[in-house]
Amino acid sequence: MKKVLTVCLVLICSLSAYAQNTGDLNVPVSPDRIISRHIYGHFAEHLGRSIYGGFYVGEGNTKIPNTAGVRNDVVVALKKLKIPNLRWPGGCFADTYHWKHGIGPKEDRPTIVNAWWGGVTEDNSFGTHDFLNMCELLDTEPYLAGNMATGTVQELADWVQYVNFAGKSPMSDLRRENGREEPWNVKFWGIGNEAWGCGGNMTAEYYANEYRKYATFLADWNNSGGLFRIASGANSADYNWTEVLMKNIPESLIEGVALHHYSVIDWGAKGPSTTFNEQQYFQTMKSALFMEELIQKHTAIMDKYDPENKVALVVDEWGGWYEVEPGTNPGFLYQQNTMRDAMIAGTTLNIFNNYSNRVKMANLAQSINVLQAVILTDEEKMILTPTFHVMEMYNVHQDATWLPLTIRSESYVVGNEKLPAVSGSASKDKNGLTHISLTNIDAKQAQEIAINIEGAKYKNVTGRVLTSKKLQDYNSFDNPNVIKPENFKGARLKGNNLMVKLPPFSVVVLELK
Ligand code: AHR
Repeated sequence: MKKVLTVCLVLICSLSAYAQNTGDLNVPVSPDRIISRHIYGHFAEHLGRSIYGGFYVGEGNTKIPNTAGVRNDVVVALKKLKIPNLRWPGGCFADTYHWKHGIGPKEDRPTIVNAWWGGVTEDNSFGTHDFLNMCELLDTEPYLAGNMATGTVQELADWVQYVNFAGKSPMSDLRRENGREEPWNVKFWGIGNEAWGCGGNMTAEYYANEYRKYATFLADWNNSGGLFRIASGANSADYNWTEVLMKNIPESLIEGVALHHYSVIDWGAKGPSTTFNEQQYFQTMKSALFMEELIQKHTAIMDKYDPENKVALVVDEWGGWYEVEPGTNPGFLYQQNTMRDAMIAGTTLNIFNNYSNRVKMANLAQSINVLQAVILTDEEKMILTPTFHVMEMYNVHQDATWLPLTIRSESYVVGNEKLPAVSGSASKDKNGLTHISLTNIDAKQAQEIAINIEGAKYKNVTGRVLTSKKLQDYNSFDNPNVIKPENFKGARLKGNNLMVKLPPFSVVVLELK
């Protein structure tokens, strides 16, 4: 009798330890949607120690190994992520930046005061050549953010000619004088940034008119298939902004419309990056998951004006935003990165994958030493954050064919509020391998999910998992490998049924063949 009771108790305990979630994975015979690799884009602003000290340490630096001033350790790490594009020079900084001040002999370049970020004086030693050559090193496509608020149409048109024109012209001659014969052929161009705020506090109507003027003179000097012009987009749920832009900008002048959304608890009380409590974690995740509703609603507006889906939704700033690390410059936005950030990255990238019919490009804010960074540096030291590891695990989805994955999730409950605990996305790569990425945001409870597979037969499943002992764990310069991907043993295949046990606050990527 005692034995029976013990068995029952063990059974009850194990059942309650794993909530039951279900899902369906459909592998269509002729799938037709590609997850653009550009969804996995990055962002490098002149802000704090992003450029100076992060990417770039100067040609003369003998302490930190570099190539033309760009840190070699950073290049190796970012190449591992396969970053498809890099946005530069801002952010808010972009609308104060005059590109002609960043070319030519470095000792002759004028300084610039970074008015938005800490009021520091920069020497313009990292300019157009430095950035575009660095993109070649990183094997990534540059995304140049043009200055609309304090620049001119002529200045931006000149920049295009300077970097893209192969023939003889005033700007291409200047480029050659500065040592670069071949053009870089930059495709992605932003026209202003956050025009509703730091980019000029414009109304949507005023910006739309200005945009039309700028876009007209952004010519494709190569005639190589056109530039990809991106309009400064809405602040989170400002749907009117998207409506006005889509209504007033002719399709012939626009390839992408942006959207910025940060996972922030409260702009007035953002909370600490590492010593947060579960309530703060929950609120961050609520804000991160809100991305799905934002994309649905902005997409619905775009569908109305662009039913043929020609204009991309470009989420060119996303990520977690907390209080800066104690003792650091408040204008430098330097924050640590914990398992909470891994959960933001995993859930957000699942959303982008699943809405990749309209979301064709996105940029995590930001790459190094700023906000939800993938890399942190301290002089010669460099560490990879949990967010880095998620982006590395998810890069299997880049340019892969999207597969519909439907998940019916249990709730993660805190107080009176609840969120779906499990989210996921799936794709099939060029080698025929299927990848499923799953996240369990529940801070305390493991989640078991049973996924029914239709349309394909798999023999084998392997995977990797990112988790840790505590949600608040992070990689530090003294202890850089607290959080790193491990082999995952929690998935098994039985016929067309895939069972996965996701640990609390974990990100899992499975490979099926
Ligand atoms: O990423 C930091 C800042 O956030 C950017 O400069 C700006 O565009 C946004 O408000």
